[in-house]
Formats: sequence, C-alpha cells, structure tokens
Amino acid sequence: MKEPRRGWDFSLELAEKGWYHSFELPDGTHIEGINRIDKLRDRYARFPIPADLTGKRVLDIGAWDGWFSFEAERHGAAVTAIDCVEIPNFLEIQKKLASRVSYRILDFYELPEAGLGVFDFVFCLGILYHLKHPLLALEIVCGLTTDTAIVESFVIDADTWREHPDEVPTMEFYETDELGNQLDNWIGPSVSCLMAMCRAAGFARVEFLHTTGFHAGVACYRKWEAIPAGAKRQAPELLAVANSRTFGVNFSTRKEEYISCWFRTGEPTVTRGELRLEVGGFGIPALYVRPDENGAWMANFRLPPGLGGGWNLVRLRFADSAFGSTTLRIAVDQPLRVKRLELKGACDGTNWNDHEVKASDGGFISCWVTGLPENCDRANISVYLEEKKLLVQYVGELDPEGMRQINAVLPVGAGKGEQLCRVECGGVSTESWALRVV
Ligand SMILES: C[S@@+](CC[C@H](N)C(=O)[O-])C[C@H]1O[C@@H](n2cnc3c(N)ncnc32)[C@H](O)[C@@H]1O
Repeated sequence: MKEPRRGWDFSLELAEKGWYHSFELPDGTHIEGINRIDKLRDRYARFPIPADLTGKRVLDIGAWDGWFSFEAERHGAAVTAIDCVEIPNFLEIQKKLASRVSYRILDFYELPEAGLGVFDFVFCLGILYHLKHPLLALEIVCGLTTDTAIVESFVIDADTWREHPDEVPTMEFYETDELGNQLDNWIGPSVSCLMAMCRAAGFARVEFLHTTGFHAGVACYRKWEAIPAGAKRQAPELLAVANSRTFGVNFSTRKEEYISCWFRTGEPTVTRGELRLEVGGFGIPALYVRPDENGAWMANFRLPPGLGGGWNLVRLRFADSAFGSTTLRIAVDQPLRVKRLELKGACDGTNWNDHEVKASDGGFISCWVTGLPENCDRANISVYLEEKKLLVQYVGELDPEGMRQINAVLPVGAGKGEQLCRVECGGVSTESWALRVV
C-alpha cells in the first residue's frame, strides 16, 4: 500500500528562516534561506542556457523570493517574474539590487491573456506539482517559449527512476494534503512522466538535467537538434499536410487538433522517433507513423502551441537528413473572409458532360468557383444539390482565371431530373446552377 507523503513538509523550517532562497548581496549581506546558495548556483549552472543573456527575454513563473529571476538578470536578461501572491522578500531584494526585473502578480492560468509576449527562456521551477492542471500549464509554458524552458518539479522517483526507464509513466494524485501537508500540492509525477508530459505539451525534445532531493529538472526545447554534419540520408518528400479531423488546411489553437502529413521515402521502414516535423519554425514529435497508399507514409503530430495566426510553413526531415525540398503550409486561427462567390460551371466529374451528372455509384459533381478565400478547404466549403449537403472530396488550387475546382460526391439514390446546385463558403453562397441528374 502506498502511504501519503505528509513527511515532506518544510513549513516549520520556512517559518523559522523566513526565506525560501538564500542571497548574497553586493554589500556583503548574506541571507540564509531554505535553499542554500551553493545549491541554487548548482541548479542554475545545469540549465542549458547561454552565460550571456544580453538581448534575451526570460520568464520566471512562481519566482517566490526571486533568486532565479535576479540571477538571470545578472547574466544580462530582461526578466519578467510572476507569482500568484506578492512576496515581500522579492520586493526587498529587488530594491536592494536596484533590479529592473518586471514583477507581476498573476496566476499561472492568467499568463496566456496577460499580454507579456513570448520569451527565449522560461523557468517553471518548483511549481508544476502545485497545479491542478499540470498538462495545461505545460502547454502554456510551451506557447510562451521560443527557445528553451527549464521545468523542475517534485517527482516520486528521483533516486530510482533510472532503474525502471521503460515503465509506463505514472503520476500520483493528491486530493487534499497528502503531499507535504499542503493544500495546493496536486500531483507527483515520476521522472519519465514529467518528461512525457513536457513532450505532450508540444516541445520538440526534452532532456533530463538533474535530480535534487525530491525534485527533477528537465530542459524542454522548441527546436530540433541541428542537422548532423555530413548527414547523407535522402530527405523525405513531403506530399501533403492536413487537419486530421477535417482534412482541411485550417487549424484552431483553441481546439484539440492534430496534423496529418503524407510523405514519400526510399527507406523500407520509418519509425516515429526519426521524424523531425517543423511547423512555423517549431519542432514537434510524431505521435504515430504508418505506411499509406501507393508507397507513401502517413504520420500524425500535435499542433505546436504558440503558433502565430495566419499561414505557418511546414517541412519535414529525418533525424539524420536535411529538410526535404517541399515546404507546405497550414492556416492557423485564420478567419474566412468571403465577399462574393460565383459558380462558373458544374458538370459530371467523370465524363465532364456540361450541366449534367450521372447518378451512378461513385458519381460526383465538379464545380468551378471564383471568389473563394485562400484558406478555403474541404471542411469550410459546402456544395448543395437541391439543398442536400454533399460530401466535398476535393478542393483544387487556384487556377490562372481565379477559379478553384471542387468535387462533391453524389448521394446514393439521388433523384433523377433537373436539380439546382450551389456552393457556399464563409456564409456566402453562389447563385444556383441547373444540373440534370441522369
Ligand atoms: C516551491 S515555490 C518555487 C520557487 C522557485 N521557483 C524555486 O524553484 O525555487 C512555488 C512558487 O509558485 C507560486 N505559485 C503556486 N501556485 C501558483 C499559481 N497557480 N500561479 C502562480 N504562482 C504560483 C508560489 O507562490 C511560490 O512562489
């Protein structure tokens, strides 16, 4: 039976010392907190961030007394520190150091709407296990990070995790005060669970840094590792990219959506671990890969957090290849702007007989429409035949006359005779076009 972890309680020590972090101030003052200065320096020294942070932005989430904020500032960074409550110790040190760290009282979940911008480096230290929604919190961290986030958390297997590296990741849940007698301690992940959650949040790759007592630290990178020098393997050829739910080109950052990619390679096998997809400049690991039709392959990926609205470029490489020559694109949070649509023609999609369509099994209508927006796709274009919505199977590229071809499948048992067809997108409809179903 597993026991609660109430013994992990430092509240008495904290009350006695009054400080969580220790400080050595320029005037020679030494403040002794729960965390010794040499231990704090050791932790910081393991962060894979440049020694010179001039020109870089750092966000320190849950800064408490602020040692990590002031240290990053000492290394040249423009630092923003946030905490859910104002900590008088932070303000005292800030004054003594004449620090320019921007201190904001915000809850974790307020960060996306706080208008702070994005940060090269984000510190998420000793706060994850205080959160009821840890994966959501890590997604927020990922969306705010452009380079690397350092995540440290209480873990349940700091000393033993290397002995069971392939275990399914596990996490303890503390409904009340089972962890350290604290009401806001919610979870205790294993080290592998912490790393898996960071990847699941959308980071390209996650590296173990250290364990200190009951904590583990990991570095979470938004970019893939550099292409190995002399990489000779043939790059995969990216064929198509689509929303795995809608098969369209549009994605919403407010929804749980996945990217499907089709690619071709001369390799006999492909594993997901060797795929390096890049979307809007951010790396994202594959969730799944399988052989598809006609010798192509299909792989699925999460939509990386923090993508800018509009068109985002997508490219693919293997771990040991350059990127393929094809770059495709997806539309993120892009509104559909339609003014006027014109249906220029509609006919049988198999024999191209004008004004006519065969009601045979597998029959479809091909339409040509002008005025469609750049981000129109299978999911936001509707084709109606006598007000019955048809399945849109294909939306072509814009041709030189400003038209796109749309193919829509005729329903089984479609009635014969003259019927009216129209196309709709973004709340705007074309005029109707008469088609004879034969
Ligand atoms: C254990 S301390 C970590 C201090 C420091 N980051 C470190 O690692 O040494 C946790 C900090 O997170 C803050 N915190 C807890 N829940 C929070 C929340 N929901 N939003 C923002 N800050 C929070 C606490 O006030 C405290 O300053």
